[in-house]
Amino acid sequence: MPRSSAYGEAMRIAFVGKGGSGKTTLSALFAQYMSKKYPVLAVDGDLNMHLGGLLGFEDELPKEKHISHPEAAKAIKTHLKGKNGRIKDLAQFRKTTPPTAESNLIFLDDPADPILMQFSAVNTTLRLMVVGSYDSEEIGASCYHNNLAILENILSHLIDARGVAVADMVAGVDAFANTLHAQFDLLVLAVEPTKRGLEVFEQYKKLAEEAGVYDSLYVVGNKVRLEADEEFIKKYIPQEKLLGFLKESEYLRRKDQEGGALNVDMLEEENRKLLQTIESKLFSMQPDYQARLEKLFDLHRRYVAQGFIKERFGDLTNHIDPTFNLAIIYEKHASKNN
Ligand SMILES: Nc1ncnc2c1ncn2[C@@H]1O[C@H](COP(=O)(O)OP(=O)(O)O)[C@@H](O)[C@H]1O
Ligand SMILES: [Mg+2]
Repeated sequence: MPRSSAYGEAMRIAFVGKGGSGKTTLSALFAQYMSKKYPVLAVDGDLNMHLGGLLGFEDELPKEKHISHPEAAKAIKTHLKGKNGRIKDLAQFRKTTPPTAESNLIFLDDPADPILMQFSAVNTTLRLMVVGSYDSEEIGASCYHNNLAILENILSHLIDARGVAVADMVAGVDAFANTLHAQFDLLVLAVEPTKRGLEVFEQYKKLAEEAGVYDSLYVVGNKVRLEADEEFIKKYIPQEKLLGFLKESEYLRRKDQEGGALNVDMLEEENRKLLQTIESKLFSMQPDYQARLEKLFDLHRRYVAQGFIKERFGDLTNHIDPTFNLAIIYEKHASKNN
């Protein structure tokens, strides 16, 4: 297995795609598969929360612990702000507000991390965090990006050293909103062998290109039954972007009927191989932490330049701490525990 990250196995992956394409299934299987080797933070970033069920967390996370619950979001922001004096009051802590040397960070491999302790459920090496749909019921699914704002804060303050964050993202463009697209090493798009499935690839490709993250976008063909299905997908997806196929699975169909948690060991051998391929691809990505931070700075500058932000909160460009170095944080953390 290639191990390219210089600072331990620090990696973040998100599964994206249209509803029903297999995001939750793939997230659950991959999170479980990786949790045999690394601490894993699985994040349910969908309005319809199914990841916990597939991972065997039934009711461990009451909605007060969903990170988009207003009280939870407030507590999380208060903690992350720490001694960061650039944020004058909590309302100024926006989705793009970057971490500084005075902020509290979240260390994925630290079981005593206060945010992880309070806002995730744990089962040996696998943790589950749920964004939740709090407050969005009346407004409608189109506003789910508001719920995702706190996830953006968590990701921007997360040091995923020696661990893997796996996010099951909401369908549609909200998965790319604000900083989200820039906060993962790998974006895996699940597509079905249908015309509509391939149109979704074109749509995500365009989004990824516009956001400058096409390099991190890869595709998995799902629910493939026949050779012809594979050929269909291969015809439209560039070869270098296609990681492989998750075949129509008897096991997954049966679990759909029975309900309950998935067990990755029960998955068909050839489907398990795909998880290995995703792992290899993930670890072949070369995260550049400082570049990620600079990108956050850039997205923050653009966000706070909007008229309504300036009007409501004043000039927030000074949230950026140009001396802060994220790469050094990773380096220090890695050497501390070696
Ligand atoms: N490879 C597969 N074989 C059989 N059923 C699958 C496969 N992938 C997904 N499914 C089923 O398809 C449905 C949608 O999958 P899901 O992961 O919930 O999609 P999403 O999260 O993208 O909406 C679920 O019932 C799931 O069990
Ligand atoms: Mg889902």
